[in-house]
Parts: sequence; structure tokens; C-alpha cells
Amino acid sequence: MLENRRILLIVSGGIAAVKVPDLIRRLRERGASVRCILTKGGAQFVTPLTLAALSGDKVYQDLFSLTEEAEMGHIRLSREADIVLVAPATADIMAKMVAGQADDLATTALLATDKPVMIAPSMNVMMWTHPATQANLQTLKTREVKVVGPSAGDLACGEVGNGRMAEVPDIIAALSRFFQKSDGQGPLTGFRALVTSGPTHEPIDPVRYIANRSSGKQGHAVAAALAELGASVTLISGPTHEPDPGGVKVTHVETARQMMKACAEALPAEIVVCAAAVADWSVNAKEQKLKKGVKTPALNLTESPDILATLSQPGPSRPGLVVGFAAETENLIENAQLKRAKKNCDWVVANDVSPGSDTFGGDSNTVHLVTAESVESWPRLRKRAVAERLAERIAAYAERHF
Ligand code: C5P
Repeated sequence: MLENRRILLIVSGGIAAVKVPDLIRRLRERGASVRCILTKGGAQFVTPLTLAALSGDKVYQDLFSLTEEAEMGHIRLSREADIVLVAPATADIMAKMVAGQADDLATTALLATDKPVMIAPSMNVMMWTHPATQANLQTLKTREVKVVGPSAGDLACGEVGNGRMAEVPDIIAALSRFFQKSDGQGPLTGFRALVTSGPTHEPIDPVRYIANRSSGKQGHAVAAALAELGASVTLISGPTHEPDPGGVKVTHVETARQMMKACAEALPAEIVVCAAAVADWSVNAKEQKLKKGVKTPALNLTESPDILATLSQPGPSRPGLVVGFAAETENLIENAQLKRAKKNCDWVVANDVSPGSDTFGGDSNTVHLVTAESVESWPRLRKRAVAERLAERIAAYAERHF
């Protein structure tokens, strides 16, 4: 996807600039050409010589340099690219982009370009969460600027939180996605995916039901991410407040039994991701509303069908890749491995839902991808980023196995 793509890489002044040499190397390995603009701040962290050696091109630094301007005017520089990538993007350069300020070569090129722009923000957590930066981010998004990261973790300033520049593979994946989308296709084009999401509601009587705390955020994000990679996605959703993701066929259900039936009807599919928090039991529901009275009613429970285990059963119509989720409060990885074997699915995304983890209903998730061969522990990521990584892994698997 990156073969022969021309990337104008603007390196602004953040500690994450030290990751840029690796980024350039990986981009060039994939056949992209990289031309760098280095800001004064950026040059405090990485030298022009390093960038020139790795990009195999001159590094542009000065707006008023006679030699640079004679060789390549700043307008041409900003246009002779397929995308402009700002990595790292500091709070300062984001603010300047919003204001339309053009007081150095980087900001002038950003104002003069007619090409798509992607930023990889990197800064201290307080700077990132500051209303000024968040407002700037929103403005940039409304101007179609693509944003990759940041992620949460240890920051160079010693604080912990959101603000780490996206990792090199994630920037590469975002660029690939961008080019795939602009070409009208993706690595999962031609594949069918079935995703379950949200809780189920099991009625007790016409007004009461048993439910759980699942918000559907993670499952819906997985459906959206698979669709973005070109898959034809059917989402079977329990009751949630999440909007239907664009470009996805959605079937709304209420109970586990309805979810099972809708999944069976949506098959065949090559890829299945069961992210729903399906109720383990359904109630022998009463037709009339139960009345408070002399005797407290007992709930007569029946075990729900296990959708994941059913879809994972061996057979000619078994989907090629079945992924389950395991929400655990203790012995996370061990329990996920056991679940994978017991349900016969291929991968389990294990997430920590212990009290304080803020996983249920929150926007972030800490997960481990458990397969037959390995356990991959991912940093704490936004649910959307977890979904994108999972979709990338699924696309890589599909390329190798389907
Ligand atoms: O057994 P447990 O509920 O912990 O397993 C979680 C995984 O199994 C999730 O992927 C969930 O979507 C799936 N599941 C299912 N049908 C059930 C119960 C769980 O598909 N009845």
C-alpha cells in the first residue's frame, strides 16, 4: 500500500522525534519515498544528517534559505507529495495549523499544501488534555486532518497518561489505511465479517429484564474498523446507546436467543468476532407483569446458547477465523487461554474488567491478544485503537491463511 507513495514528513520539536529515524526506515522498506522538513525544535532531538541519511534526500529546514528555495520552492515542496505527515506533532504546531500561522518552513508548507495532512500528536498529558489543545484537535478534524494516536503510557516528562506519540507500526497502519481508502479498497475487501456487540436483555416479565454493564463501544468499534479495511460487515447488536457504524449492516436484537438466530442467519462469513456480553441465563419470562405480593417470586433460569462456541464448532462451514472476548477480573491470561481452548475459537481478546479498570462503559481498554501460539499484551488504548489493531491483525491473518 505504501509502494511509490511520496510522504512529506514534518518533524516538529518533541522527544518523540527520536522515533522518526525508525519511522523513515520502515516507510522506505515498504517502498515509500520520504522527504523531511525539520523544525528548529525538531532539530534539538534529531539531526538533519540522520534524517538525510535515512531518507536518502535533502532535509529542508529554512524558509528563507536561498539555496533551498532555489532548489525547491516551499510551495512546490508542499505539493510534491501524496500526503503530509506531521510526526511528532506538538501542541504548538497544532495551534499554528489551526490559526493558519506560517512563521517557518513547516507551518508555511502546511498552509500552502493542497494535499491530505495527517498528524501524530505527542506531548505532555496536561498539554494534550488542555481545552485549548482539545479544541484545536476538533478544529483540525473538521478540516479533514487525519489524526493517529496519541496513546497512553509513560511520558518522557515522568508523568503517565495520554500523550505518547503513536508507535511506528500504528503510524504505518494509519497511512496504509489512508491510501487504501483513497484507492477505494482495503486488505479485507471481498471478506465477510460477522460481529456481535453490546449486552443482551433477558426479560423477566413485560417490564423487567436482566442485563449487564456492556456498552457495545468495543464491539461497534471492531465492526467499524473491519468495514474500514474493506470487509463486508454484519453487526448483530444487543440494546446499546451506540449509533450504528456507517457502512455496516446492523441487526438489532434483544435476547441471547435472538442474537444466536441472527448470527446463524448472517452466515456464511470468513471472520467472526464475538464481542457481545451475552447473558449467561435467560429467564422463564412471565407474560404478565409480576405483582408484589405475599410470595417473592423466584427466577427460573435457563442457560443461554453459547454463540461463540456454536460458531466455532468444527465443520465445513466454520468461519476461517473466530475471535472471542474474555472479560475477567482475575488470572486474565490464564482464563483467556482456557476459554480459547474450551470454546474452540482461534483468538481471545482478554480484557481486564476488575473494579477501577473503567473498561465497562469507558472509552479505553487494556487487552491481551491470546492465540494458540502467543500472548500479545497491548498498552492501554482507546477502544477505537484496540479495534483498529485487531482489524489489522485479522487482515494480516487473512492475507496469510485465506
Ligand atoms: O464464557 P464467557 O461469557 O466468559 O465468554 C465470553 C466470550 O464468549 C465473548 O466472546 C462472548 O461474546 C462469547 N459468548 C457468546 N455467547 C454466550 C456467552 C458468551 O457468544 N452465551
